[in-house]
Order: sequence, then structure tokens, then C-alpha cells
Amino acid sequence: MTPQTVTERVTVPYLREKKGGGIAVMTAYDFALARLADMAEMDILLVGDSLGMVFQGGENTLSVTTEQMIYHTRWVARAARRALVVTDMPFLSYQVGCAQAIENAGQFLQAGAAAVKLEGGEAVVDRIAQLTRYDIPVMAHIGLTPQSVHRMGGYRVQGRTPMEAKRLLNDARAVEQAGAFAVVLEAIPMKLAAKITKALKIPTIGIGSGPHCDGQVLVLNDLLGLSPKPMPRFVRCYADVAAVALDAFTRFKKDVVTGVFPSKEEGYVSRAPQVRRRASRPA
Ligand code: KIV
Repeated sequence: MTPQTVTERVTVPYLREKKGGGIAVMTAYDFALARLADMAEMDILLVGDSLGMVFQGGENTLSVTTEQMIYHTRWVARAARRALVVTDMPFLSYQVGCAQAIENAGQFLQAGAAAVKLEGGEAVVDRIAQLTRYDIPVMAHIGLTPQSVHRMGGYRVQGRTPMEAKRLLNDARAVEQAGAFAVVLEAIPMKLAAKITKALKIPTIGIGSGPHCDGQVLVLNDLLGLSPKPMPRFVRCYADVAAVALDAFTRFKKDVVTGVFPSKEEGYVSRAPQVRRRASRPA
């Protein structure tokens, strides 16, 4: 079944049925690149709070606000014709209580998202249950949860010890039980990700968690080679857009300095006075 046979858009029920593999997810933060990702038939465009780092240049995701997530959700949703738009609930937008979580998630849906993602396992099951009760679909996120950077002492692989692995399996079962329609598994050992994927009925979306998850997510800037090097081992860089852009910027600067740009052909000439035509965009 493809989304087109049922509806033009990827939906939450469609994703549930894609348990078994092949769910492609990418983060997106703006209209232009979200449009390209949608054209490439990405299943989910995740408006990730990673934007605090890759878009805003921050050290972590903790300073991202609800207002900023609403702003970026609008432009990604405007671009998405096929993909399901999921918006990350940023730090302190759901921790205070269920009412706060519902109010903020509702604002993300009003901005164009079809679902929200929040970090945490057993600790957030009441939030997940409440949101799904009010028809706000939730994607869970366990393992390396970037909003817990200070507790973890950095961005480290999670679930390496038997005790941690058991806790993560319990977290996965708990978020499924609470009603999450999918769960992101970030930076956990491959075997554990495979075990969790097998144990759950909902799809798992991996990032740095090996090939056995039902889907994979990458951060747009990493995928395009726009993030500072070296990148984590799980990132596959599909294009060196940084090199292409830097070359273009350098050549433009040189052409301006040397007077090579613009040429006469790139300039306009006056029209005869009787011709009255207005183009909305000068050709
Ligand atoms: O914020 C984000 O981009 C994420 C992905 C890494 C899953 O949560």
C-alpha cells in the first residue's frame, strides 16, 4: 500500500501499517528544503528541536521555545504536500503538566503539524496518554534524549549495560502502551534496537541505532554535509552542500571585487515609453 492508493498524504494509520521497514524521516526547518524533501517522498518531515543547534547555532536544544517551534512548523507544513509533519515539543513545553502539554501540542497542530514528538519513556506516559486521548498523535523518543544532555553528561550512546537495556525496553513498551504511534530510538546498540523493534507493534525510527529499526531519521544539516566535521559515525553525508555553497560564495565575492559580476547581459535596459507592461517578477 502506498499513501497514494488511499490518500495523497502520509497519515498516522498509514505509518502504523508500515511496521516492517522503509519509513524515511528527515528533519526540516524551512520552506525551501522541506519542499525538496517532500518532493523526494520523505514519509515524515520532523520539525526537530535540533534546530536550536543546526539552525540557531546553539550548544544544545534546551533554549528552543514553543514560539520558535510554531514558527518553523508553519513553513515546513506549507511545503509538505505528501509528508506527515511532526513537531518536536521543546524543553519545558510538556514537563510542567498534562494541561501544558495539551495546550502547546494543540498550537503545533494549529500551525500545521499532524503529530508531535516528545522525549522520555515511563516518565512521560501520562503526557502521551492525555495527548492521544485528545486526538493529538504522539511519536515517542527514547535512548539518547538530547533534552537530558546534562543528566547524561553529554551526547552518549544509551542502553549499553544490561540494566540500561532493560530500562529502555520497559520505556519502549510503556510509550506504546500509552498510545504513541511510533518511537524514535536514538543512539542505542543495534541488538537492543532490534529487540525493541521486535517487541513493539508500533514502528521504531532509528537514529544511530542500526539497520533493524522500521525507519530511519537523519538531521537535514548532517545529511547535506552542512554540520561541522567530524560528524558522528552514524551519519551518512549524502552531499557536500557546504563545499558547493562555499565555492559559490567565494566565486561571487571574487566576481564582485574584480567587476566580473554583473555583466551587461545581467542588467536591464530602458523600455520605449509607450510600452506599459508590469511583470510581477523581473525576468
Ligand atoms: O530534534 C531532532 O532533530 C530529533 C531527531 C534527531 C530525531 O529529535
